[in-house]
Amino acid sequence: MERIILYYSDGGKTKVVAETLALNFRCDICQIRDLKKRDGFRNRLSSTLDAFRENKTEIYPPTLDLEEYDTVYIGTPIWANNPTPAIITLIDRCNLRGKDVVLFTTSNSNSESALEKMEMKIRARGARVVQQFNLNTDNKTPARIQKDTEALIVTKDLYLY
Ligand SMILES: Cc1cc2nc3c(=O)[nH]c(=O)nc-3n(C[C@H](O)[C@H](O)[C@H](O)COP(=O)(O)O)c2cc1C
Repeated sequence: MERIILYYSDGGKTKVVAETLALNFRCDICQIRDLKKRDGFRNRLSSTLDAFRENKTEIYPPTLDLEEYDTVYIGTPIWANNPTPAIITLIDRCNLRGKDVVLFTTSNSNSESALEKMEMKIRARGARVVQQFNLNTDNKTPARIQKDTEALIVTKDLYLY
């Protein structure tokens, strides 16, 4: 079974989750970059608005060939209770038909609504969501996020996917 981890991370927390998954599964990993400037107070506000409105953005890589993978992990921080514009754009651009997808989010709360929205979009693209989780990263160090991710791999049976 071939897996790939695709993720967007602005502040590095989702990156820790993604890298922990890739390290444990010894699988491919790809960071999706948002070409719109997202740092600074003003950009934070416009990022929140973009996410709230489910706006698309310019991403790098602009698209991905997922032909060789059976299972695609897609991870994003939660912005305004939604997935980030980069990940909404990615889901729209990639051919996910027939893939098994594992969704993960990181946030300051225990919100499930972004996962539900992502699942609807993934299903509409002809893929099925086989597992999903949110990790609350509030006040957590990278080491703690890594440990929590390793625990989730076990409790969510992620070695199966
Ligand atoms: C623009 C913006 C909006 C956010 N909105 C939410 C939110 O609605 N709910 C929440 O629980 N956390 C929210 N957060 C917190 C992030 O989801 C959380 O810190 C996440 O782990 C950051 O991941 P990253 O370091 O990979 O970017 C927001 C953060 C930013 C920068």
